[in-house]
Amino acid sequence: MSEILHANKLFNPKGDDATEHRTIIKGSTTGLFNLNATKYPWAKSLYQVMIGNFWVPEKVSGLKDDARMFHKDLSPEEQRAYKGILSFLIFLDSIQTVNLPHFSDYVTSPEVNLILSIQAYQEAIHSQSYATILETVVESKERDEIYYFWRSDSILLHRNQYIGQIYQDFIDQPSDKNFFRGIVANFLLESIYFYNGFAFFDTLVYHMKMLATGRMIAYIRRDELTHVTIFANIIRDIKKEFPELYDEPLILGMMDEAVKQEIEWSRHILGTKIPGLNGETTENYTKWLANKRLAMLNIDPLYPNAIDNPYKHLDRLQDVNSDKGNFFETTVVNYTQSTSMNGSWDF
Ligand SMILES: [Fe+2]
Ligand SMILES: [Fe+2]
Repeated sequence: MSEILHANKLFNPKGDDATEHRTIIKGSTTGLFNLNATKYPWAKSLYQVMIGNFWVPEKVSGLKDDARMFHKDLSPEEQRAYKGILSFLIFLDSIQTVNLPHFSDYVTSPEVNLILSIQAYQEAIHSQSYATILETVVESKERDEIYYFWRSDSILLHRNQYIGQIYQDFIDQPSDKNFFRGIVANFLLESIYFYNGFAFFDTLVYHMKMLATGRMIAYIRRDELTHVTIFANIIRDIKKEFPELYDEPLILGMMDEAVKQEIEWSRHILGTKIPGLNGETTENYTKWLANKRLAMLNIDPLYPNAIDNPYKHLDRLQDVNSDKGNFFETTVVNYTQSTSMNGSWDF
């Protein structure tokens, strides 16, 4: 029988913040953010990286060039994919912004709550970056079509409803089983759902198209990679602290479903006429990525045949912190606000 969790009290004078008694969930926190006494070193490291990654979409220049290029140089298939992929990313960042506090309410480590708050802030910034892109690049009448594309696209509606329902189940019934499901859903959203969309924008940049959108996406991806790491660490610590809650078959089942949905949606929205992206590369990339993400949880590959990344040539666009030099070096790396902090996060 799944146990019902209790949300943290705002202030609990009887709580015990001692690190030796601290647990990710089900602890007894006073509610105080005593960040001098921390138990989870990964949360402290991630805090440094996330703060070092600070950026705002208003500072990314060149969107007017993208607007010209969108109408002049993109094929109808590329325009359709650009809009459809943005629609999905908009949904994902919206739901993350709104939903993360529901999970934080049950997390009993202030250092983990600290970075979940920063994550929620970053997801809101991502929403603002999509608004900035849409304001400049597409016609005003197209904006609402993009925001509400799921009203007419049943595949997108199904995806949005699937993830929304998992989160809603936890809100409606905050059992420990629904918490674990929700944490796994967060991990999959952050680690799988965004990435064929990112590969599309990278492919445009590879062909010297829509460079400002590509820069914006590079900043967003840099943030998302820290989010993947947050949820991988939460899952690993739950396994350690609450082995009875940890459910590997559930992770594998949800991963397989996420991969199926990601392949179906990506094939649907990318079509067959965009150079460099096709049904086969989509499938291979998604499965390769899934194996990589499972490795973060120390789980063996689910798709043993998917050993090559078909988008390897896009790597130089993805590794924004590389010191090897990359496409965005002059813009992204130099814009990192807090250069005293270690900005690299190699995933
Ligand atoms: Fe995001
Ligand atoms: Fe995220």
